Amino acid sequence: ETVEWDADAAEKGGYEHYMRKEIHEQPVALRQTLSGRIDIERGDADLDVSFPQGYLESLEEIQLVACGTSYYASLYAARLLEQFADVRTTVEIASEYTFDGGRDPWRTLVIAVTQSGETADTLGAIRRAGGAGARTLAVTNTLGSSVTRETEDSLFIRAGPEIGVAATKTFASQVTTLALLAVEIGRKRGTLAATDARAVLENLRELPGAVQQVLDEEARVLEGAERFVDADAFFFVGRQFGYPVALEGALKLKEIAYDHAEGFAAGELKHGPLALVTGETPVLSVLTEGARPGETLNNVTEAQTRAAPAIGVTDGTVETDSLDLALEVSEIGHMTPLVANIYFQLFAYHIADLQGRSIDKPRNLAKSVTVE
Ligand code: G6P
Repeated sequence: ETVEWDADAAEKGGYEHYMRKEIHEQPVALRQTLSGRIDIERGDADLDVSFPQGYLESLEEIQLVACGTSYYASLYAARLLEQFADVRTTVEIASEYTFDGGRDPWRTLVIAVTQSGETADTLGAIRRAGGAGARTLAVTNTLGSSVTRETEDSLFIRAGPEIGVAATKTFASQVTTLALLAVEIGRKRGTLAATDARAVLENLRELPGAVQQVLDEEARVLEGAERFVDADAFFFVGRQFGYPVALEGALKLKEIAYDHAEGFAAGELKHGPLALVTGETPVLSVLTEGARPGETLNNVTEAQTRAAPAIGVTDGTVETDSLDLALEVSEIGHMTPLVANIYFQLFAYHIADLQGRSIDKPRNLAKSVTVE
């Protein structure tokens, strides 16, 4: 008797695509990201990266450089770094980056955020920063990758291998790792009190469970995708931490469904994009803690007045009866919009799957782009 053995199917662990497998791996990936790095008692993060004595205290600026999904993870993290560490933080698309470090470049910490550690644009940017005298740090998923040889220190996001071209679990693990870094820098600089740090760390500890709750609602996302699969375009809106999540939600749809999708700061809808809104353009929104849900809901209502169907991710902070589809998340402070993003990943996946797209290997795209 012979046993049929399909190595590819086995690799995917019963899932039809790596992307769906990797979306579902996020609770495990996040536990790995957090493992041993939370010290509740001290109210501090415990990361295996050591800065020179006094370095963080004298830090004047942090610059994050990245591409694609890693750029959106950086936009999310920059807000955490500014809030917790009270240090000016800028985010730049790596291919647009030029280093200007002022009189003392060493006091600028430049962080290359790259899942693969091989993206040519990001490597070019971090080389320019290091060459000009800035201190450099890599935040990556890949041990021994090129970026780790270009920087003074490396911080690993520990998401495990990601095969699907469209990044999913690495986005969550990047934000989480950088959130821990923001806590550590804030504690060192004395800008984040132990009690406040503890609250952040508790939220991070609840993150894998909150993500699992979203994954358990996948059937509702599929229903939503079936309802809206024939739409002309999809608009994603959010404020604050919800803004990078809106951008990332739209990127996922573009990449794997080949549908027109755009992410906007919710407040900007009325300054232009509203002209594009019709009954055939669903508006997806982040209506949670950390994303100014009340104001965002007002912007969504403006789109609904122009006949747009509204899908919102909510943690119960605002009344969402008016939405066409409300998807629930648990409220975990600053990290709530990151949990909302899991709904957007599932939505993009099902919109693409219903159209029979090549989800793991979208046309014209590569997992890591090694040309500038
Ligand atoms: C490519 C991938 C994207 C990824 C980007 C940055 O464009 O298709 O999914 O976000 O590169 O990759 P990195 O490895 O630097 O995070």
